[in-house]
Amino acid sequence: MAAAAKSGLLENRDSDGLISLYRKRAKRYDWSTLLLYFVGFRHWAYRKRAIHSLALNPSDTVVDLGCGTGLNFSLLQEQVGPRGRIIGVDLTDAMLDEANARIAAHGWSNVELVKSDAANYVFPSSVNGILSTFALTLVAEFDEAIRNGALALQPGKRFVILDFKRPSGWFMYKAAPLLAKFLTGPFGGTIEMASRKPWQSLEKHLALIQFINLYLGGAYIAAGEKPVPPTC
Ligand SMILES: C[S@@+](CC[C@H](N)C(=O)[O-])C[C@H]1O[C@@H](n2cnc3c(N)ncnc32)[C@H](O)[C@@H]1O
Repeated sequence: MAAAAKSGLLENRDSDGLISLYRKRAKRYDWSTLLLYFVGFRHWAYRKRAIHSLALNPSDTVVDLGCGTGLNFSLLQEQVGPRGRIIGVDLTDAMLDEANARIAAHGWSNVELVKSDAANYVFPSSVNGILSTFALTLVAEFDEAIRNGALALQPGKRFVILDFKRPSGWFMYKAAPLLAKFLTGPFGGTIEMASRKPWQSLEKHLALIQFINLYLGGAYIAAGEKPVPPTC
């Protein structure tokens, strides 16, 4: 604890801490993601790649877990179209308020918002895709969220995660505490959280079909697919 405080790293936050952080940041959240470009973190390109990995079809239902202000919604709309359904789930009321404003500004009638902890969220009985960008690593009970999502997914459909992680290469591993302070610290992420491995839960509850290292291993896209039962 002392070492973390000394290095200026945030301590592991519980949900209350994250809610109060995101309440303070909600209005400026979209702008603050632009700052990531100054350190070469092309989050928009990564989002597009993650959403492409979902392999959605028009009219599909997709859940965006930890949706925040809804930055993914326009890209998801391009995939599911007006007959599709987008469900944004988030813990923080202020982030959902921003998401709501985005929905109203675009006049989208196919987006629903749910205020819930990702770990307790009750998924609809059958979904065609689940996305989580820069959120699941903040959730200590990520395994539960992924297990519940896996149960709700239709066979052949995917759960895709785009998130930060602690890199394994020597240089980046050593640089990770500093990167965590500047890159993920403002978003509530700590080096301890970056050491979590949600993709192992995708592997446990689904079939891990894709793992892409991004940003010299400091981020990743992982996709799990629900196996299709064999036909007799
Ligand atoms: C870094 S923001 C990412 C938002 C959005 N997914 C994006 O890519 O811009 C993290 C979001 O996760 C949400 N969050 C944190 N812990 C959560 C939890 N346990 N359940 C649901 N949402 C959570 C926060 O409220 C915040 O909106």
